[in-house]
Amino acid sequence: MRKNIVAGNWKMNTNLQEGIELAKAINERVKTNNCDTGSTGVVIAPPFSHLYAVNEVIDPKKICLAAQNCATEEQGAYTGEISAKMLKSIGVKAVILGHSERRAYYGETSETLLKKVNLVLKNEMKPIFCCGEKLEQREAGNHFTVVENQIKEVLFKLSAQEFEKVVIAYEPVWAIGTGKTATAEQAQEIHAFIRKLVLAQFGQEIADNKTILYGGSCKPSNAKELFGKADVDGGLIGGASLKADDFLGIINKME
Ligand code: PGA
Repeated sequence: MRKNIVAGNWKMNTNLQEGIELAKAINERVKTNNCDTGSTGVVIAPPFSHLYAVNEVIDPKKICLAAQNCATEEQGAYTGEISAKMLKSIGVKAVILGHSERRAYYGETSETLLKKVNLVLKNEMKPIFCCGEKLEQREAGNHFTVVENQIKEVLFKLSAQEFEKVVIAYEPVWAIGTGKTATAEQAQEIHAFIRKLVLAQFGQEIADNKTILYGGSCKPSNAKELFGKADVDGGLIGGASLKADDFLGIINKME
């Protein structure tokens, strides 16, 4: 059976002290989940500057540490960049890639994302690969094609063995940070579509086991309905992951 995951994407929020407090508060209250073997994996993705210190205060059996991005290159003269190998060396287990904010503000393309996905896999971490359409694309009825292309151009270039390690996060851009959540039906529709694509590419077993998260204004009040859908296997949470109460409230809806 596929694993459910609730992942918190802190984005560029909290200073170090606040981040450590938040991580401690979450760690104290995550009881039954286990990053490797539990039915619901809990992931937090603090800013780069906090990762090492946060790793010191969390129990890796309860919480999986993730980064929000990594470099396209392995090492060298790339001022300001952080490599997958560096992240691995400080205890990071997963890396969020292709978030719509990175695609929109930092020009990430399928080409750059494929490089990043490959480096994350090479360093034995899990890519959490984001896809999702903009409002105008949904209004024009192009959301299926947009998501299909985002997935095909990167994830379907991987071998089945590599693809098995990837978590997919569907995040409609119009729902991110806007308070406007996709309805559970809208989420289910596109998650089922993604699983069908995976089925056609990699077969039944891999499709059945693939974790597909929903992201975009997910909160304690709507998480149960979203997670109740057959093909929604958890969430990628932005704003509501910055308060331990809200984040735990969402995790509890998964169980
Ligand atoms: P949000 O962000 O929950 O604040 O909408 C989700 C995300 O961008 O991952």
